[in-house]
Amino acid sequence: MSNRTFTMIKPDAMSKGHAGAILDRIIKEGYRIVALKQIKLSAEKAGEFYAVHKERPFYGELVEFMSSGVIIAAILEKENAVAAFRELIGATNPAQAAEGTIRKQFAASIGENAIHGSDSDENAAIEGAFFFSGLEQF
Ligand code: RTP
Ligand code: MG
Repeated sequence: MSNRTFTMIKPDAMSKGHAGAILDRIIKEGYRIVALKQIKLSAEKAGEFYAVHKERPFYGELVEFMSSGVIIAAILEKENAVAAFRELIGATNPAQAAEGTIRKQFAASIGENAIHGSDSDENAAIEGAFFFSGLEQF
């Protein structure tokens, strides 16, 4: 079990001004920020990040959405980070997300769902390295 996960505050939450509230929640839940940056993905980079979903019907929309505005990307540290963070963000579809989760509070739809959380330790490491060099991680 690794203690790091990777997250992105997605363009919908950024443009609605929720970034501060979401980061505050994450910090209050006990996550330590290992790395953090604001960045805008090109469609090519967004497509590369979500390549695992290439064959899914929503892939085109997802790439367009994730490259539509700035995001905040971060590596977070806490015990059992991947599973704990997935619990904190809630179900992919905010209509099914539990009370008190970030997606329940801030997400509008299954496509525009405010925040990303890695789904495994292996992907957390791959995704963190996609955005941050070793020199940017503390
Ligand atoms: P994420 O990777 O962003 O943390 O989300 P997740 O694990 O909860 O969901 P995943 O299955 O990995 O899907 C990635 C993202 O694709 C968009 N999506 N749209 N329209 C749809 O049916 C649909 N399904 C998924 C969402 O933005 C989802 O977070
Ligand atoms: Mg996922």
